[in-house]
Amino acid sequence: MNMVLVGIQWGDEGKGKVIDILSRKVDYIVRYQGGNNAGHTVVVGSKEYIFHLMPSGILHENKICCIGNGVVIDPAVLLEEIRGLENAGISINSRLRISSLAHVIMPYHRILDQLRETKRKHKIGTTGRGIGPCYADKISRCGIRMADILSPKVFAEKLKDNLKEKNEIFRKVYGHKGFNFNSIYRQYLNYGKIFSPYISNTAAILNRAIELKKDILFEGAQGTYLDIDFGTYPFVTSSSTTSGGACTGSGVSPVKIDKVIGVAKAYTTRVGEGPFPTEFPIKFGEFMRKKGNEFGATTGRPRRCGWFDVLMAREAVMLNGASELAIMKMDILDGLKKINLCISYRYKGKLLKEFPQDFKALSNVKPVYREVSGWPETLTKPRSYRDFHPNAKTYLKMLSDMLRAKISMVSVGSAREDTIFLDS
Ligand code: IMO
Ligand code: MG
Repeated sequence: MNMVLVGIQWGDEGKGKVIDILSRKVDYIVRYQGGNNAGHTVVVGSKEYIFHLMPSGILHENKICCIGNGVVIDPAVLLEEIRGLENAGISINSRLRISSLAHVIMPYHRILDQLRETKRKHKIGTTGRGIGPCYADKISRCGIRMADILSPKVFAEKLKDNLKEKNEIFRKVYGHKGFNFNSIYRQYLNYGKIFSPYISNTAAILNRAIELKKDILFEGAQGTYLDIDFGTYPFVTSSSTTSGGACTGSGVSPVKIDKVIGVAKAYTTRVGEGPFPTEFPIKFGEFMRKKGNEFGATTGRPRRCGWFDVLMAREAVMLNGASELAIMKMDILDGLKKINLCISYRYKGKLLKEFPQDFKALSNVKPVYREVSGWPETLTKPRSYRDFHPNAKTYLKMLSDMLRAKISMVSVGSAREDTIFLDS
């Protein structure tokens, strides 16, 4: 079974945890888009791991983890993650594969990301990791790929070409002194040396695995509304975060994908700027942020919090072809008297039943809520569907009906055993 796992909101849905659970059932785990703007948290016992680039499945012995061609790689971050795992006694040696076609984040990408953001009138809220500029270079055909840093000659040529153009822009447009060829050249060739045992044709590896009837989990980063096409543009990231990205970002054909699983929080959060129709009022937002510990795993920024938005999630289920859902952080809603579900928007006197593509509309809609009775906080956490309070069951049933997808998992805490599987 080859599964794609995607976020159906604005990222931070709790994908890391679901990936960790599903990893047990598969042989290969693949990251296919994004870069170290992602922050996937996995809790094992009392230890918390946060991965930015490494597929979260790496914690499971014997699993092969691939970083696909669609990912943009900051070598310093990847190296730090490899070292961190080694220090924790987790051997990755024969288990990591990095696509030779994956693009490399260069120091000038990072700086440009930050400089452009400071100059923008309407800030995107980028994580400043160089993701956007690296993808921009990929699309404009001047990017540097993993294979390039293995070859001193090819790399020298490409880096020179890039610096010639970019240094001029840095100086003239941004008043930045620009970048020195030698130091980047040496540093990145060294990365190439370190990573050479891992750099490979991951598309071939994955397709061979499929022939051998192995199971693959495609680990999405970010969420549907950060997708470069379908997200709340321009407040998005620069990759295809929807399920289609799994194919272009790995070299596995769509006909080989068996299932798409969507991950959503029982409410909604967003980091960075952009419209957010169901955002809580300030005071309640602060209360929920504290309760849900909603601070970014990558930048530590406070996350904006709001009610579950059915319109948004339903559209995401459609865009991704998700047949199953994992509902995360259900326990954060415990103890609320009333819970709101946004079922439509009001805009210019009209009732919208579909998520609008018009950015101006989305920025000005008023959410229409259906009120659902809450459930009390309990000392013991539910361990099966039966243990949920009847109102919690009603909430889940409403989500499943309105989103037209089966809920297969509900999470009520960060530990591995806090995930409840619903009968299929
Ligand atoms: P995971 O995988 C939440 C957001 C940033 C910003 C916008 C663009 O942990 O769910 P970028 O650095 O990509 O140029 O930032 O996208 N963003 C995320 N928000 N979770 C993420 O990843 C995110 N990755 C990017 O906050 O608004
Ligand atoms: Mg995150």
